[in-house]
Formats: sequence, structure tokens, C-alpha cells
Amino acid sequence: MNSLNLLKIAEQFGAPLYVYDAEKISSQFKRLTNAFKGVSNLRLNYAAKALSNISILRLMEHLGSGLDTVSIQEVKLGLMAGFKPESIIYTPNGVSLEEIEEASALGVQINIDNLSVLEQFGSKHPDVPVCIRINPHVMAGGNSNISVGHIDSKFGISIHQIPHLLRIVDLTQMNINGIHMHTGSDILDIDVFLYASEILFETAKNFKDLDFIDFGSGFKVPYKAGDIETNIEELGKKLTTRFNEFCTEYGKELTLAFEPGKFLVSEAGYFLAKVNVVKQTTSTVFASVDSGFNHLIRPMLYGASHQISNISNPKGRERYYSVVGYICETDTFGSNRRISEISEGDVLCFKNAGAYCFTMASNYNSRFRPPEVLWHNGKAHLIRERETFDDILRNQVDVKELFESPEKIAAK
Ligand SMILES: Cc1ncc(COP(=O)(O)O)c(C=O)c1O
Repeated sequence: MNSLNLLKIAEQFGAPLYVYDAEKISSQFKRLTNAFKGVSNLRLNYAAKALSNISILRLMEHLGSGLDTVSIQEVKLGLMAGFKPESIIYTPNGVSLEEIEEASALGVQINIDNLSVLEQFGSKHPDVPVCIRINPHVMAGGNSNISVGHIDSKFGISIHQIPHLLRIVDLTQMNINGIHMHTGSDILDIDVFLYASEILFETAKNFKDLDFIDFGSGFKVPYKAGDIETNIEELGKKLTTRFNEFCTEYGKELTLAFEPGKFLVSEAGYFLAKVNVVKQTTSTVFASVDSGFNHLIRPMLYGASHQISNISNPKGRERYYSVVGYICETDTFGSNRRISEISEGDVLCFKNAGAYCFTMASNYNSRFRPPEVLWHNGKAHLIRERETFDDILRNQVDVKELFESPEKIAAK
């Protein structure tokens, strides 16, 4: 997508807003599929949590993706978007048995990550095939908030608990049809994937009726030109070889599954916000935009760095700016960034805004969440309306009668 198109979209729909490039999503999907072309049965289950607009889910279904979900609501969205139940995997963490049973009744693949629920679910529903999420005790991921496969993590069943897991399977006579892991996000080193994969293969040998092994996700994507990223092609070559060897050893052609979020949508997304105020202080020049961490929380939550450019003045002289939001506490998108000269009213573009951006947006400070636009075949399609004041009030119950003055009540 070029800056001119983005600027036109901002003029048409107003800022702040999110724009997603369908072509980029599609090319990333093809790139990952191609990297694993040596595997007979490959399954990519898009991680809905990254960007869950129903039109994006429809695009994924159209591309041939399955869906990775973590809540009953994501399961229902996926079904509404046209995914068949058998193309959906449900991987919750810490949810009730009732929610898991509700998902199971909808026919989706259940993935369980703790022994307590495994035993309860297996005793009640021994005929439902279940996948198990293993915690391989591997430290992986870009930062501690997104590293989830280590020994202190709340996710997965520890590999050291496999003997007990096997006793539960024996007791309940349930059928384990898949093994899964997801060790973190922003994992650069492919050796970490390969090392953890060996642990999965070792674990898989304990189960005779597997249909698939799910290697989760966590591929690191570039955040600026020339940035480092996971070498998908090399991982594809190496893991394909090991997976095919394992299938021969196991005696069955299993399905190799991944559940990418960021890899498919991060680079496809752009967040556009208008500059309200340029403010020179003693220490820096602030560019304050008509947005904040209510719309894009990753810089404040994770210290994530999104590239910021001025698409209203792309050829202007570069100067240093700190780009900040309007939320009434520290709300910094980027400190001391070199950006082409900014005037009030210019539109700034934040890159890598496809994954974990809109889905983490909120109404904090009683602000409206922005609209979303899909750029498809050279045209902009609105896929979510900008919120209005009615959305802020929806579901609130105004108990004003509790606070009426005695005089007012007497006058009634
Ligand atoms: C279980 C599970 N699968 C897949 C993903 C997607 O990871 P990523 O966006 O790094 O590809 C996540 C992200 O948190 C996850 O928790």
C-alpha cells in the first residue's frame, strides 16, 4: 500500500482509523504455505486474537486457512465467518469446564492445557477427541509478557507431568488426537523452534492415535526496513525434514499445524492519526495526535516500537519528534523519532498495526474506538464503523433516581 492511497482513505473515512491490506495478508499466507510445501498435510490456523474483524476472518477462510481461537466468542465469530467447526481449534487457558463443553458441542477441536480439566472433560466426554497443550519449558519470545512456554508460565501441561497425563488418559479412555505447543511471540531464532519441536516429537510417541502436531506460532516479523525476522524459509526446510522423518517413525502421515497471528496480519495493518498539536518544550518537540493507548496500546504495554511517518509531508525535512496521545497519563507512541516535518493537521502513519492493535483497543477516557477499512483490489471497504456516543452509553444503567435530592422526590 502506498502513502497516497492511505492519505486518500484518511480523507474519505476520517482519522483515527485502521487500514488493512488484503494483498499483504494473502502474500504472507502463501509465503508460509510455500515454506512448508514438502509436508503432505499442512494446516495453518490463523490466530483470531491478532485481528478478529469478521471480514478479516472471511478473508482467511477464503485463503484456505483454519482458525485458532481462545474464547467461545472467537469460536462463534469463526463459525459466523464461514469456518467449518472442524477447521477451528479452541485453545483456552484457565476457562471453565462449561465453556469448553459449549465449544465442544459446536463441534470444534478442543485443546486442553491443564490436567484438572483434562480429567473432568475426559470422564464426561470420553468419545470427544482432544488435543493437549504441552509446556516444553523453553524460554522463547521477544519479551517476558509474550514468553509463554517456560517453567513459570501458566500455559500448557508440563512435560514432567506426562506420566500423570497418561494415567488420566488410561483412566478415562479418552482419545488424544493432537499435541500442541506455543512458546511465545517474536521468536527470532529458528533453533528455538527446532529444539522445542524435538520435545513435541518425544511427547508424541506416547500417543498412538494422533492426527496432528501443532507447533503454535511466534514468528518474528520485521518492524522496519532491513529489520531482522524469523527465517521462515529455513525453518520450513529444516522442520519439514524432521517432521517427515518423525511421521515415518510414527507410522502415519500426520498433519503439521501452525497458528500464526502476527506473521499473517502485522505488516498488513496501518494506523492513521491526525496531529492536533505540535508543542515545543524544553526537552523535545511533541506531536500530539487525536488518539492514544486506548487505540494502540502496544508501545505502552510492551514497549513495542511502531515505525511512524508523516504521510501528509513525506518529502519534508526530517526533524526529531516525540509522538504522544491524548490520554491523561503517560501516553507515548514513540520518543525522539526522526519524522519529516510535522504541521498541525498532518496525518501520521503507524506501521505493523495489523496484529494486537485494534483487538486491544478500548473506550478508555470514554473515547470512540476507530473504524477499520480493508483495502482489497485497489478499493477501500469499510469493515467497522466508527463508534458513536450511543456505543459509549450502550449497556450502562443510569440509576439516577438513587441520587435525586429529597426536594425533587417530594415534588414528584
Ligand atoms: C495459543 C496461541 N497461538 C498462537 C498465537 C499467535 O502468536 P503470533 O501472533 O506470535 O503468531 C498466540 C499468541 O499469543 C497464542 O497464544
